[in-house]
Amino acid sequence: MNKTIAINIEEPPPLSLYVHFPWCTKKCPYCDFNSHQLSDRTLPESQYLTALLADFSSSVELIKGRTIASIFFGGGTPSLISGVGIQKIISEIYRQVSVDKNAEITLEANPGVSEILQLKRFREAGVNRLSVGVQSFSDANLKRLGRIHTGKDALKAIEKANDIFDNVNIDIMYGLPEQSLENLSEDISILVRTNVKHCSVYQLTIEPQTLFYRHRPDTPDDESCWAMEKLIKEMMALYGYDQYEISAYAKNGFESVHNNNYWKFGDYLGIGAGAHSKISFGNRVIRMEKAKSPQTYMNKAGDGNALAGCYQVPHHDLPGEFMMNALRLKDGFKLDLFSQRTGLDLDYVMPSIQKAKDNNLVIVKKNSLRPTDYGYAFLNSLIGYFI
Ligand SMILES: C[S@@+](CC[C@H](N)C(=O)[O-])C[C@H]1O[C@@H](n2cnc3c(N)ncnc32)[C@H](O)[C@@H]1O
Ligand code: SF4
Repeated sequence: MNKTIAINIEEPPPLSLYVHFPWCTKKCPYCDFNSHQLSDRTLPESQYLTALLADFSSSVELIKGRTIASIFFGGGTPSLISGVGIQKIISEIYRQVSVDKNAEITLEANPGVSEILQLKRFREAGVNRLSVGVQSFSDANLKRLGRIHTGKDALKAIEKANDIFDNVNIDIMYGLPEQSLENLSEDISILVRTNVKHCSVYQLTIEPQTLFYRHRPDTPDDESCWAMEKLIKEMMALYGYDQYEISAYAKNGFESVHNNNYWKFGDYLGIGAGAHSKISFGNRVIRMEKAKSPQTYMNKAGDGNALAGCYQVPHHDLPGEFMMNALRLKDGFKLDLFSQRTGLDLDYVMPSIQKAKDNNLVIVKKNSLRPTDYGYAFLNSLIGYFI
């Protein structure tokens, strides 16, 4: 798959905006996100907002004439920012670019940092979806994960969020240190009773550069995690949550616009420390990364120098990158989407699709392709056919 080949992306894909906020009250021992513990330091909110706005203004040229379909404030813990701060960013975005009138605007909140007044201000500023990082409702699990909140705090935060927002997501993790199937079943029973519209369920991964990597906790073996995954699928389905992506479950009509755009290989502009962007032009796809260290970012963004790296995705990498995202979707994708997003002819991947089909990993029907249950269970091997 490595001969030189021209690409032609006729229509730019839908566009999302990601805004990164790189601080947390406390760093969790499993987390490798670009997030830094505040400790006794005060939050440099106004300095960071100035940098974000400068970063945005100097990036706007890249998305000229396009409309933003979703905005995501991620972190770190963006719920540490004041309502006024979020309002300032959102109004500046609307002032400088076109935003879809039904745009999904999500903000990530930690249950330990989600005061009711604060949540109301976020809503007034235009945020219409809140994503609460719960992880577990069990105090023992939360303690082992080094979280700053209890199960009760999490329930209170969800209640407040449900009062203020029509669209609430919660993040749950499984495969936790010393977790049993019964313990997970308890978490999922509580989760389904909260009546949130969306839930992201992640298996704990032990990432290099984390405290858990250096002091590895005792986590359930593969067979137990497999049983946990099965239990999650069954219980979520029973309570009307449809699994539409490997880790995402939603009530009908509440699939995340922002995440779906990533999985359908859409475009996104990232602003903030370490934020990534993917932007398509007619004959090339560009990836960019902003300066990762918050201090360096704040020092450089003011002069329009926040960019730390930029490269064109080699054409022969596009099929693998597309499939790595699109095959995560339970219902797969329309075959046309491959050419629309990569600018490559479908013939380019037909031999690999045929091989995956022969091995019962995908089904091709009515111009759509989706992984079989077997393909979904061995997704990494399936993706390997396209790399
Ligand atoms: C940026 S954090 C969410 C918001 C907020 N910082 C919080 O933790 O409450 C995104 C989510 O990624 C998940 N996550 C982080 N590290 C993980 C890991 N090592 N394995 C699995 N999931 C992880 C957690 O569920 C977390 O809520
Ligand atoms: S609060 Fe969230 S972003 Fe911050 S360290 Fe913990 S998991 Fe990572």
